[in-house]
Amino acid sequence: MSTSTTGTSTVITNIGELVTNEPGAGEGPLGVRRGAALVIEDGVVAWTGPASEAPAADAAFDAAGRAVLPGFVDSHAHLVFAGERAEEFAARMSGQKYTGGGIRTTVERTRGASDDDLRANLRRLLGEMARQGTTTVECKSGYGLTVEQEERALRLAAEQADEVTFLGAHVVPVEYDGDASGYARHVATDMLAACAPHARWIDVFCERGAFDADQAREVLEAGIAAGLAPRVHANQLTEGPGVRLAVELDAASADHCTFLSDADVDALASSRTVATLLPGVEFSTRQPYPDARRLLDAGATVALACDCNPGSCYSSSMAFCIAVAVRDMGMTPAEAVWSATAGGARALRRTDVGHLAVGARADVLALDAASHIHLAYRPGVPQVAAVWKAGVQVAG
Ligand code: NIG
Ligand code: FE
Repeated sequence: MSTSTTGTSTVITNIGELVTNEPGAGEGPLGVRRGAALVIEDGVVAWTGPASEAPAADAAFDAAGRAVLPGFVDSHAHLVFAGERAEEFAARMSGQKYTGGGIRTTVERTRGASDDDLRANLRRLLGEMARQGTTTVECKSGYGLTVEQEERALRLAAEQADEVTFLGAHVVPVEYDGDASGYARHVATDMLAACAPHARWIDVFCERGAFDADQAREVLEAGIAAGLAPRVHANQLTEGPGVRLAVELDAASADHCTFLSDADVDALASSRTVATLLPGVEFSTRQPYPDARRLLDAGATVALACDCNPGSCYSSSMAFCIAVAVRDMGMTPAEAVWSATAGGARALRRTDVGHLAVGARADVLALDAASHIHLAYRPGVPQVAAVWKAGVQVAG
């Protein structure tokens, strides 16, 4: 493959398989076009069509007959933190259960870190993601848990991430031990007032040991009143009330969805709320995987995301999520690729990313493989040839 990156327009030629995620534009649900070319201009997709008809551009990238996809949309990540918890992972792999209790360890480390250390860690992780083909990243706060620390986390996240989520209600911090209701009230009032200007989304960890339905509702409704849109950590460890609350509040996404009742599945299927599945968490906590097939067969919209964080899943690989979703969650390769791109865009209520129609943001992943199937077919193998984010080449 060859590439040059100067100039304002780039033509990607000789594309063996172009995944557009525009069902009308090509074969199957991924809208696959063969023998295609794609032109990037001023940060957006300016043209797609048969390679033989491609217009000239300032720069050219020869895809050498391989696959080109929309960049991955990772709609769930916790990236503003200091330290890590490798020992906790090792303990789990020798039989300990994940309870979310380790979050407080990261809170302590994060509070003690400088702005520049947090910035550098965030930059490192976003770079790691970009090199693996991820071009849109949602990033949550949630390791500060005081007004000042949460405000700082969101300010730092907003400097670098595409989407920013206020997760003051992640767990109850030591200062409020035994008083989850008091802390939820604090999050919904003083903390929200300081944090809302830096975020688009509000999230709550609705789970036994974190926040119950009433506390979660108080925080989410206050967030909505302050102009934020809701998303919910729901049904990760138990068949709790999170999914139903998310649907009731028209949340963009209910994330985890590991333990679902039939009523939860029906509620998701008859709503706009996307079920965002995070298979890296079940891998790293040795829990059963969520049942994507059950959700898809019921008619729910499914997204895949990494949930990159130092506790429940320290992986930023969307390709890994795709491979696990195909192997162990009942998804076809095409469904998993859709969920990691267009599904993530739906979970963020974004129409400019996750697909490659003319006018979409030029977030493009050129694979070093003939087909999107290879993402699941060759697990663990690096297959990224080049990545563009808003038309700027960020990898390859
Ligand atoms: O999405 N479940 C709650 N929060 C994170 C884990 C955070 C941590 O363990 O540090 C999650 O899994
Ligand atoms: Fe999470």
